[in-house]
Amino acid sequence: MVTTPVDRSPEGSLAFLREGYRYIGSRCDRYGSDIFQTRLLLEPTICLRGRPAAVLFYDSERFQRDGAMPKRGQRTLTGRGGVQGLDGSAHTDRKAMFLSIMTPSAVRQLGQLFADDWAARIPVWERSGPVVLYDEVGRMLTRAVCAWAGIPLASSQVARRTDQLHAMIDGPAALGPRHWRGLLGRRRGERWAGDVVERARVGTLPAPEGSALRAIAEHRDAQGRLLPRRVAAVELLNVLRPTVAVDRYVVFAALALHDHPAWRERVRAGDEATECFVQEVRRYYPFFPVAAARVRRSFDWQGHHFPRGRRVLLDLYGTNHHPDLWPEPERFRPERFAGWRDDPYGFVPQGGGEHLGGHRCAGEWITIELMKRAVTLLTTAMRYKVPPQNLALNLGRMPTLPPSGFVIDDVRRTG
Ligand code: HEM
Repeated sequence: MVTTPVDRSPEGSLAFLREGYRYIGSRCDRYGSDIFQTRLLLEPTICLRGRPAAVLFYDSERFQRDGAMPKRGQRTLTGRGGVQGLDGSAHTDRKAMFLSIMTPSAVRQLGQLFADDWAARIPVWERSGPVVLYDEVGRMLTRAVCAWAGIPLASSQVARRTDQLHAMIDGPAALGPRHWRGLLGRRRGERWAGDVVERARVGTLPAPEGSALRAIAEHRDAQGRLLPRRVAAVELLNVLRPTVAVDRYVVFAALALHDHPAWRERVRAGDEATECFVQEVRRYYPFFPVAAARVRRSFDWQGHHFPRGRRVLLDLYGTNHHPDLWPEPERFRPERFAGWRDDPYGFVPQGGGEHLGGHRCAGEWITIELMKRAVTLLTTAMRYKVPPQNLALNLGRMPTLPPSGFVIDDVRRTG
């Protein structure tokens, strides 16, 4: 048996919140090991990073998700009763519902709604002076995903719903007001989404065929039961919230274009360069720091003991920056994705493993489509200036973003 390195701190939660995306990686470097044990949220926790660790972590015979997500994450980010915390056939059944919504034509349709809205906003930005890209893109994505999902949304409500969805994303790894805003956002968001589902079920709100609202409102479990209203609300928010969260990746893409201007030309030249650029944005920039699971029953792996019930965290950011997998991991180099074949355990910005049989993100296709649309619009449909502002990413904040939200100015239509 190998001795698993142990982080000596009696309780690591504050260090985790302070060090953020580097918490696991810096300890792995220090111990010379891609596995160590620590105490987080008052319980012993095993932290892992790297490809072999991801292969292990996504083995659903060994790990379960029930009880893995910390309460503070459930109360803000995910809600309770949703697909993230299910295992076995209950998970596959629910996940299939999500995947049924993600047909290539539906994904394209969402991309088109977003792109049309963006094109319509350019003349407004031309007249308006400086624009905070994060705020604008968040609202565009809220409008697009609600229209796409079959949810009516008055224009007067767009900013409010966007703020609630943002608060859920910003809340789990925060203390104080940021966390409280997350709690409130979730409570209000679930009430709203629950009403929408109820109206679709009684027929006062016609849910279009193929829409997310229809799929969720009408979904029946293996026993033929509709989802309870609260769970259906959680699942509807599982479509809306992460789609709006793509605004963070759009801001990172704009930041990357700003920091690596040669790529503006390259992505303008063709689809392959845009694909590589978008993949490198997903690899390089920090979003989800970790995924969490619990050991289903005790086992040993590479000489390390995993006792039943132990919480295990896989470092998603650290795996995407692992030097064994990614030469010069701290350099932004989209060309590394030229001719690249998907590696579901080495490239894990949205989780790894399988989509249906595992917990890999149901929205990867949507994410990539929306990012490509944004990159194309930023490089072919408009010119803009990036005035001096604070663009420094704080890796101690989860999730992080340039503090300015990426301000652009002197916007002009092109093309
Ligand atoms: C799961 C990241 C966009 C729906 C996940 C997971 C991550 C993630 C890390 C958990 C993987 C795991 O537990 O192993 C992201 C990021 C996104 C994004 C960074 C881009 C901003 C989306 C979109 C949708 C979506 C656009 C839907 C429209 C889901 C769902 C799950 C999930 C339903 C739960 C899957 C399961 O438990 O089986 N995502 N996601 N995500 N994501 Fe995403």
